[in-house]
Amino acid sequence: MLSRFTACTAACMAAALMTLAGCSKGSTSLGVHADPARAAHEIYAHRCASCHGQQGRGDGPLARSLPVAPRAFANAEWQTTATNERIEQAIVRGGEAVGGSALMPPNPDLGSDPRVLRSLVSLIRGFKSPSE
Ligand code: HEC
Repeated sequence: MLSRFTACTAACMAAALMTLAGCSKGSTSLGVHADPARAAHEIYAHRCASCHGQQGRGDGPLARSLPVAPRAFANAEWQTTATNERIEQAIVRGGEAVGGSALMPPNPDLGSDPRVLRSLVSLIRGFKSPSE
């Protein structure tokens, strides 16, 4: 019993330390991340906002230079028609996987972390704005 307890405590502490170290450096690396919502925020800021914009309006700094407009997540109509499965597919396998543009890059590493992927979908859902 005692050794199992010790092993668990050590594993948990290692996880917490790695998370702290990762977050303080602004790292988006996955693996042992205790807080998927926080990981999703970091990933969005580092990998998505440049095209989709901080507020999900499709107006990131790179958006203007792209021939295909990045999806505006604030768009209420898109929010009602896009399923969670479609959003997850687009994120992991890229725009082409859902019949869209290859300019939406794939993120295969997120496919192995369903909790973070779900949190990313929730974050995208949260951009919904009734005024657009
Ligand atoms: C280089 C610019 C770029 C980056 C970076 C980018 N995207 Fe996109 N994304 C696009 C473009 C362009 C589209 C529109 C594709 C289309 O409509 O054909 C798109 C579409 C999407 C869609 C909508 C798919 C659909 O048709 O329903 C989702 C969801 C999405 N992106 C999520 C993300 C997430 C999450 C990230 C970060 C992990 C991200 N994107 C990073 C350019 C980008």
